[in-house]
Amino acid sequence: MAKFKKIGVLTSGGDAPGMNAAVRAVTRKALAEGIEVVGINGGYAGLLNGDLIPLESHSVSNIITHGGTMLYSSRCPEFATPEGMAKALATCKEQEIGAIVAIGGDGTFRGATDLANHGIPSIGIPATIDNDITATDLTIGYDTAVNTLLGMIDYLRDTCESHARCNVVEVMGRDCGLVALYAGICTGAVSIAIPEVGFDEEAAIQKIANVRDKGKRGIIVVFSEGMPQKNGRKYSEYFAEKVQEITGVETKFARVGHIIRGGGPTLRDRMTATQMGVEAVNLLLQGKSNRVMCVLENKITNEDINYALVLDRMCKGKLKDGDLDRFSADEIASMRARCAYRQAKIEKLYNMAYEICN
Ligand code: F6P
Repeated sequence: MAKFKKIGVLTSGGDAPGMNAAVRAVTRKALAEGIEVVGINGGYAGLLNGDLIPLESHSVSNIITHGGTMLYSSRCPEFATPEGMAKALATCKEQEIGAIVAIGGDGTFRGATDLANHGIPSIGIPATIDNDITATDLTIGYDTAVNTLLGMIDYLRDTCESHARCNVVEVMGRDCGLVALYAGICTGAVSIAIPEVGFDEEAAIQKIANVRDKGKRGIIVVFSEGMPQKNGRKYSEYFAEKVQEITGVETKFARVGHIIRGGGPTLRDRMTATQMGVEAVNLLLQGKSNRVMCVLENKITNEDINYALVLDRMCKGKLKDGDLDRFSADEIASMRARCAYRQAKIEKLYNMAYEICN
């Protein structure tokens, strides 16, 4: 059983709709178990500076519907230094914080695992609009962000249709193409460019020319911000110019940025955040630490944080020297299989889109 009487909860990294729902679930579940809860403001920076607020049941009333994060967020490089960690541990000691739930992306989990290694049991909850944590099929915020994006691209399509234009839309996602892929498929984009799949520029331009010849007026192209640069500039902007130059189709460019990080979370994000928040507290109560909550095959589960971080680097081709040393041959084989499965899933969807979106 747990040996602590108070837990801290924080949100860190890029905010994501549903973070509040997770904070609420962690708070309410912990209180129901007789554990005190403290909110840590501004991510790990708040832990370093002792910027805390006690959370009661009413403190988290009415936040399930809100985007953003009531605990605010930041990226905190100082936390990764020995001095930063010493300050964080001092806050935990002074304030009697015996465990942490850290809500965010991979940077957040690196912080959580560092805390766990220094004796503070920690659980990560994946929340980022990018859906780029390989260990989980879904991160909190992704569903809301892509749904918001669909609406925006639909608006662009209306005006493209009226004026017989093409619109190249660059969307967020960091170096993960899932936001672009799903939004592209579900808005009927003629072409989608994501870092996970080779982009055949000539074929894409030819496809645009072909669909125009067949009478298509409004043409949407979705580009992931993670696409590599082209001729020293953003590939999306370069591509928009090329389309107009080669096909003669009037082409506009739009970048849809932080706006998709805002807004009230969807049903799916609220539910996932709620279930993950409750389960994160359950894990801590069972004496577990260094775990990250996941959704696999529609079930809420959890994974070792170190495994999740290394799996992620493997999938992104960013393994560091020694990363695999602490894992068994079976674990490494399972990581490889998961990367291959993820890549195959993405390619299958990409190819399906290529065939039917025209
Ligand atoms: O990770 C979420 C994300 O919104 C990415 O999609 C984007 O590249 C990045 O954060 C933007 O970060 P910032 O909030 O620092 O501008």
